[in-house]
Amino acid sequence: MKSGLAIYEYKELLNIFSRTEFRKMRTSFSCERNREIEYFIQTECSKYEKADNTRNYFIIDKPRLEISAFFTLSLHSLILDELFSDLSPSAMEMIRGYGRRSARSVGCYLIGQLARNDRAQKSDITGSEMLSAVKAILADVKNSVGGRFTAVDCADVLIPFYMNNGFVHVNRHSTLNTMVMTI
Ligand SMILES: CC(C)(COP(=O)(O)OP(=O)(O)OC[C@H]1O[C@@H](n2cnc3c(N)ncnc32)[C@H](O)[C@@H]1OP(=O)(O)O)[C@@H](O)C(=O)NCCC(=O)NCCS
Repeated sequence: MKSGLAIYEYKELLNIFSRTEFRKMRTSFSCERNREIEYFIQTECSKYEKADNTRNYFIIDKPRLEISAFFTLSLHSLILDELFSDLSPSAMEMIRGYGRRSARSVGCYLIGQLARNDRAQKSDITGSEMLSAVKAILADVKNSVGGRFTAVDCADVLIPFYMNNGFVHVNRHSTLNTMVMTI
């Protein structure tokens, strides 16, 4: 990660920048490959934050007053019946957890959004470095409240990226794939 970049949760940024500055940084976030994420940062994330639906994390290039990358974390659950039937016993054991033989769903965390600003370079911050930041946050949460894994829903083109970063492909629904990783 390039020096000068630092990670902040939404509320921390409100203490560092004025609302106008923060809004300006958000509206200049561009993600041509995924306009939904761009829309989320620009218009939705504050509502999701206030409703406690998600926590929104910004990797900020302070010298340039710019958001280099963004991700969200939230609570989620996986329906066990919907998982691929040929998952390895160890993957199933990790997902199900101890003493939950008859459970139909299992709680986990969710990476809801994850994107680098088109204005930033891959050499500034890589997707793997963003996932390292996710892991560090979730390791702390796990210490306080438990939980074994995080999930993410992604398009086919991003399956190799998540698999290279330790995720297992566990489900496909419509055009999205569910990937999970132990924390
Ligand atoms: C997800 C992301 C942070 C990963 O960053 P990274 O590890 O530095 O990897 P790259 O940006 O090089 O992406 C890896 C590959 O996926 C492709 N890719 C990434 N997002 C894509 C998208 N939304 N649509 C199509 N292809 C995409 C890249 O073109 C690249 O392909 P290549 O290996 O053939 O060159 C970054 O690709 C990104 O910001 N993508 C756009 C946002 C997005 O789609 N997020 C979805 C999260 S589920």
